[in-house]
Amino acid sequence: MKVLGIETSCDETAVAIVEDGLKVHANLLASQHHIHGRFGGVVPELASRAHLERLGPLMDRALEEAGMGWRDLDAVAVTRGPGLVGSLLVGMATAKAVALALGVPFIGVNHLEGHVYANFLEHGPPEPPYVCLIVSGGHTQLVHMPEEHRYEVLGQTLDDAAGEAFDKIARFLGLGFPGGPELDALARTGDPSAIPFPRAMADSGDYDFSLSGLKTAVIRHVRAERQGDREIDLPDLAASFQEAVVDVQVQKTIAAARDQGVGTVLLGGGVVANSRLRERMAAAAEEAGLTLHYPPLELCTDNAAMIAAAGASRLARGERDAFDLTVDPGLPLA
Ligand code: KG4
Ligand code: ZN
Repeated sequence: MKVLGIETSCDETAVAIVEDGLKVHANLLASQHHIHGRFGGVVPELASRAHLERLGPLMDRALEEAGMGWRDLDAVAVTRGPGLVGSLLVGMATAKAVALALGVPFIGVNHLEGHVYANFLEHGPPEPPYVCLIVSGGHTQLVHMPEEHRYEVLGQTLDDAAGEAFDKIARFLGLGFPGGPELDALARTGDPSAIPFPRAMADSGDYDFSLSGLKTAVIRHVRAERQGDREIDLPDLAASFQEAVVDVQVQKTIAAARDQGVGTVLLGGGVVANSRLRERMAAAAEEAGLTLHYPPLELCTDNAAMIAAAGASRLARGERDAFDLTVDPGLPLA
């Protein structure tokens, strides 16, 4: 089954064509980072307009790249939420129009489920149950998956999302947007133990996270250094901040897998592109005897292949959505 995937929840216009949730025939992205960069964050109104402008041409290009015509498509999967309402509406309306014109089924997909299903492209799903760490610009959640498409949220951030913390620190330091990749690159030559930033909630005994205290600690540190006329070592700062984030995430993910008696850990979301998180989680999982899966870099950040993959899996179970389906900016995973 060849599924057209459409993802417009935030600032990436994305279209993909995926066969049986496994084989990626095309996976295209029209990034809007340059549009939002000068504002230091996504401007919803501009994002919706850009999606509307780009989605049509991007679908044409995807078909061309896949060597297919419209009639080769068997179904359409689209992100239903969570995300920016105007951006989601553009994708949803487009997906309905295509499905209606072709007379094929269509299905709305939770964006976070997409991040989880990015792990299953090419290889298919491993045997459940899983514990999933979902870390993106908008979310930080630890989820227990007893079986496919069933989600029990174990814990989540009480304030900022992980990616949001990276973006806010980068913005404060005058680095580019989004901040995650910039800080990750800087951190490579820094000393992660240079500045002892707090590991918030590391020993809270639950699976919740808190990142706003760390953000404040970083800002305070920079202000104190500037006031004391001391030069700020950006690589050390980036590496120390990143280590504080990664430490807690690794510790809680491994603990969750152990407590739930689960042998397989999945990572999903843009922050999983972080080199230190991948490295530290791989080492910790190996030590704990856990099987770890994370997507290739280009499938960590927002893309439409993951939406097509999650949609294909639901369609294969006989699920369909009706044409009165709406978007839901706050759509929960569970
Ligand atoms: O999943 P995603 O593309 O969009 C959302 O669903 O939010 O995640 C985007 C987030 C941004 O906050 C970005 O700074 C972060 O992922 N990110 C990273 C890295 N690459 C992207 N954070 C840390 N290290 C990275 N290498
Ligand atoms: Zn995302």
